[in-house]
Amino acid sequence: KAEVVSMTAEHLDLDAICRAGEILKKGGLVAFPTETVYGLGGDALNPDASMKIYAAKGRPSDNPLIVHIAEFDKLAPIVGEIPEKARILAEKYWPGPLTMILSKSDLVPKETTGGLDSVAVRFPSDRIAQEMIKAAGGYVAAPSANTSGRPSPTTAQHVIEDLGEEIDMIIDGGQVGIGLESTIVDFTEDVPVVLRPGYISLEMLQKTLGDVRMDKGLIASDSKVRPKAPGMKYRHYAPKADLAIVEGSQEAVVKKINELAAEAKAHGELVGIIATDETKDRYQEGLVVSIGSRREEETIAHHLYEVLREFDQSAVRSIYSEAFYTPRMGQAIMNRLLKAAGHKIIQVDK
Ligand code: TXA
Ligand code: MG
Repeated sequence: KAEVVSMTAEHLDLDAICRAGEILKKGGLVAFPTETVYGLGGDALNPDASMKIYAAKGRPSDNPLIVHIAEFDKLAPIVGEIPEKARILAEKYWPGPLTMILSKSDLVPKETTGGLDSVAVRFPSDRIAQEMIKAAGGYVAAPSANTSGRPSPTTAQHVIEDLGEEIDMIIDGGQVGIGLESTIVDFTEDVPVVLRPGYISLEMLQKTLGDVRMDKGLIASDSKVRPKAPGMKYRHYAPKADLAIVEGSQEAVVKKINELAAEAKAHGELVGIIATDETKDRYQEGLVVSIGSRREEETIAHHLYEVLREFDQSAVRSIYSEAFYTPRMGQAIMNRLLKAAGHKIIQVDK
């Protein structure tokens, strides 16, 4: 059973961080906060630790892990050539919610990269994460610290629920800041490609780099084209109940969800509804949860996984959600919500 230790970025428990480092160096697993979501850490240069991570999460071992660093000069030893554009991006967004895919060096075992010749690298901005990575020797492989398929954890409690029995230590650093995983940019081809949208949007990347593309496998929901990040092809982030997204004008969406909820009630079933501050009082039936105000997209992003997990504690068997195509993070929010819903969309008034 995992030892749980609590600390904040302002008051680091250096003793506990040192212990975490020792656990990691010996091949053990430690969950820790980052600015995006909680990560499940293992020594990235130790193939046995990576195998343990896959086992603890129940994750297929062909789905590569992200290697976390906490100093710029730790990048060169684990990668091949660093393209100029990758350098520019690292300078602008590291430390931060950005992961870059580069060709890997021999230092990184294939177990960590799911058999690929490329490696995903991220330099998180969270201070607890940074100190722990340094204490572990500089390279920590960390997927999100959830059981494979479930919503990513944004609190230590979520990690305890999913992995409390499987791992050695959990560092509780409170709520994460962003709440959605890092933006992944692939530099292994001529033009940089976004494999997973996040807090750093396509437009922000294009502003810095010029030509940047979105992975075709992400845009095509009918999915004959496979996403390039192996992790993006699985159903993911899913609550236990069936989830469908209702899209259309606000009026039509509220009306449709009310009808669906009333219909379910007639059959003696309770539905879950993911609403916003603007609409929550307009739903008459069901378990209504507001994800935040439409005017604050960062709040919506921050609450998404927590809201999806909340329904797991209830008797709800189907969930209807409004859509959130907000200006900057909308792409990332809808990417996760669509995956959670298995791309089930109910289109109204079109
Ligand atoms: O914000 C984040 O990135 C969090 C925190 C903990 O840092 N980590 C995270 O890791 O989201 P994970 O394992 O849940 O997601 C990693 C994604 C997967 O979709 C995986 O397939 C993809 O990155 N990936 C990793 N290495 C790759 C590679 N070499 N080529 C293509 N995709 C890769
Ligand atoms: Mg994940």
